[in-house]
Amino acid sequence: MRPLALIATLLMAATSASAQDAGAGAAEYATHCATCHGLSAKGDGPMASVLLVQPADLTTLAARNDGEFPLVRVIMRIDGRDPLVSHGSPMPVYGDYFEGPFDVSTKAPSGQPILTSRPVLDLVMFLRTLQE
Ligand code: HEC
Repeated sequence: MRPLALIATLLMAATSASAQDAGAGAAEYATHCATCHGLSAKGDGPMASVLLVQPADLTTLAARNDGEFPLVRVIMRIDGRDPLVSHGSPMPVYGDYFEGPFDVSTKAPSGQPILTSRPVLDLVMFLRTLQE
């Protein structure tokens, strides 16, 4: 395949990816979250031993919320609208990367639409696949 054709194919693959991409979310997670929450997401990352407050186990988010994944809370805890001291608010440890623009929409369990950003939505879809 000629390089230009290859690039065109890759671009098409990228734009046809679903808006909620758990695979992309896994990469975001490994880059921005695993240092504290661990690759297993159980709160056992390499930073955990030096933190005063232990990182939350992100595989039990649904279990700890009566079996329902707390979508809105998780989105807002990541993008900073519901700040967490442990995430470094008002200066998140992962910088302003997840701050927006809030240009994709998803539905809360209540049916209410919630605006967020693509990387956050990918991440949340990934976290959802980890629930025990
Ligand atoms: C510097 C370490 C650190 C990093 C990096 C980090 N977290 Fe956290 N996170 C924590 C700690 C510690 C808590 C527990 C805070 C508390 O209980 O007050 C927490 C709590 C959370 C919670 C709240 C859980 C709940 O029950 O509401 C979510 C969701 C979360 N983190 C997701 C993430 C995601 C997603 C990322 C990556 C974008 C991330 N965290 C990056 C340390 C970190």
